[in-house]
Amino acid sequence: MPTTGDQTHFGRRTVRLDEKQGLVNDVFHKVAGRYDVMNDLMSFGLHRVWKDALVAKIRPSLSRPFAHVDVAGGTGDIAMRVVKAGGPLTQVTAVDVNGEMLRVAEERTARRPFSKQLTFIEGNAETLPLPDSRFDAYTIAFGIRNVPRIEDALKEAYRVLRRGGRFLCLEFSRVDVPVVDQLYDAYSFAAIPAMGKVVTGDGGAYRYLVESIRKFPPPDRFADMIGEAGFARTDVTQLTGGIVAIHSGWKL
Ligand SMILES: C[S@@+](CC[C@H](N)C(=O)[O-])C[C@H]1O[C@@H](n2cnc3c(N)ncnc32)[C@H](O)[C@@H]1O
Repeated sequence: MPTTGDQTHFGRRTVRLDEKQGLVNDVFHKVAGRYDVMNDLMSFGLHRVWKDALVAKIRPSLSRPFAHVDVAGGTGDIAMRVVKAGGPLTQVTAVDVNGEMLRVAEERTARRPFSKQLTFIEGNAETLPLPDSRFDAYTIAFGIRNVPRIEDALKEAYRVLRRGGRFLCLEFSRVDVPVVDQLYDAYSFAAIPAMGKVVTGDGGAYRYLVESIRKFPPPDRFADMIGEAGFARTDVTQLTGGIVAIHSGWKL
């Protein structure tokens, strides 16, 4: 369903742009404590493989300072992976609009040897509370489709990256393989909300998740949006038959 200038999607519903963030925040407040368990269950552990594939593209320096920002960082999965992939001078800033998700991230990382290399900041992807041209790489994993004004988030990614810095986005995409797409739809719309209800007590949160995937722009269109924000050499890598895609762009 097309939306007008001040409207957007919240799953299947059309909502006002200024209404969406509150609805998204409610979803993640409800599921924060069980978010990690649910990720493993509904993806059969595959989210770990996808996140490893994203971080493998970053290759932080093992000897020189490397500043990374992970936006919509949630419970810290990407931040932890980047810091482990880098050297002692790698610093990762994880930003999320939801303090509840960040608290889980802080608890998970507090006693880890790399905890001093991590900083958690409550903030919105559309208006990052971060300086210009500061970071060597920016990631956003399963986050951008939740952001009401995706164009603003992309502009902010461009602003906070230094020249030569890389933007990387991991997001659910489109399954275009005949039969597999039908199985995927059946699993998504029937099993995932039911599983979400049992595990987190909230089937509606996971219905939103499934519906929001279908409303996200197709991979080529999203690559164009990244280019329109100023990034060069944009490309897309689809994984697991198109269930997810990694989009990349460079600030040159
Ligand atoms: C599906 S979780 C992904 C978490 C983590 N990146 C991962 O891959 O496990 C989506 C996250 O996006 C965050 N989020 C939603 N809207 C946001 C916004 N406008 N700015 C920053 N974070 C946002 C939510 O609070 C939530 O933690």
